[in-house]
Amino acid sequence: MAKEVVLSGIRPTGFLHLGNYFGAMRNYVRMQDEYNCYFFVANWHSLTTHPDTSELRNSVNRVVAENIACGLDPEKVALYIQSDLPEIAELYLYLNTMAYKGELEKTTTFKEKVRLSPDNVNAGLLTYPVLMAADILIHRAVKVPVGKDQEQHLEMARNFAERFNHRYGDVFPSPQAFNYGTELVKILSLDGNGKMSKSENQMNTIFLADEDEQIRKKIMKAKTDGGPLTPNAVKPDYIENLFTLMRQVSTPDTVQKFEDDFNNSSEGNCIIRYGDLKKQLAADMVEFVAPIRAKAADLQANQELLKKITRQGAEKARASGAETLRLVREAIGMN
Ligand code: TYM
Repeated sequence: MAKEVVLSGIRPTGFLHLGNYFGAMRNYVRMQDEYNCYFFVANWHSLTTHPDTSELRNSVNRVVAENIACGLDPEKVALYIQSDLPEIAELYLYLNTMAYKGELEKTTTFKEKVRLSPDNVNAGLLTYPVLMAADILIHRAVKVPVGKDQEQHLEMARNFAERFNHRYGDVFPSPQAFNYGTELVKILSLDGNGKMSKSENQMNTIFLADEDEQIRKKIMKAKTDGGPLTPNAVKPDYIENLFTLMRQVSTPDTVQKFEDDFNNSSEGNCIIRYGDLKKQLAADMVEFVAPIRAKAADLQANQELLKKITRQGAEKARASGAETLRLVREAIGMN
């Protein structure tokens, strides 16, 4: 039986961080053996918010290198750059006729970006979810490993696919957001304000390229409080976030110890020591990030190899994209 098709992408708008890793890339690595995987660097998407392209090529290379450093095997997956697959642009054009201005204006990420950059409300920003749907549908992907912040975009991609199928005949399966756990992941910024992100709040974001000392410093500064007031209290989200990170990088015994300390604490009897928790988390995080950082740096020094990998990825992606476009044109009557 043919393997199910998986697709996901990352914008090259800055350094990759723990949110990208635990929300998305960790799943890519697990999925590469089971599925027919396409992963790409969304350099067209980055133009909607980052018109200055002086750093773009470097960022694209870094994202490719960091994906491989995190465990993606370019022999198993197609790892490519969005602009190397022009088939996406044609599909984007067709899907744009199925996307309504009202629904695009209501998209959470659009409203957020308008708020952050009121002087650059361009049409590409408005149709960002349509381009994203084209990225997914060009390979007729069914599973899309992403973090929680992309959930609405996935819902829109399903709507566009359904509208296309309804209007022109069945071409697209219905793509679903995917995570190996039960829920999509959202890693918070270490000060507890919003999600960890590439471009905002850098002192509260741990990047895969951070040095050991920076990692320690950022974790030791993470927001905590005076401790739980009752046994088995509900954790505030900034504390839950530290536990979430700890579950990813520390041993189960370590996590259990701090869980027990938390649950046995109460007002006047605070057993959990957040300073100790952060020290342990920092040590385990340093051990986790250091080899990724080193491997990514080695790869970035080998531009020829990165070029070869993305060229090979683009070839594989174009074969799949061309076949989808053939079906799309036939369905519309453009053949
Ligand atoms: P981007 O580049 O912002 O993020 C890449 C991936 O990392 C996830 N992520 C997070 N997960 C958990 N917690 C966080 N704090 C966090 N921050 C980021 C994102 O959910 C994403 O999976 N629109 C996409 C790029 C894209 C794409 C696509 C994705 C373009 N076309 C097609 C999937 C399919 C984006 O901006 O991701």
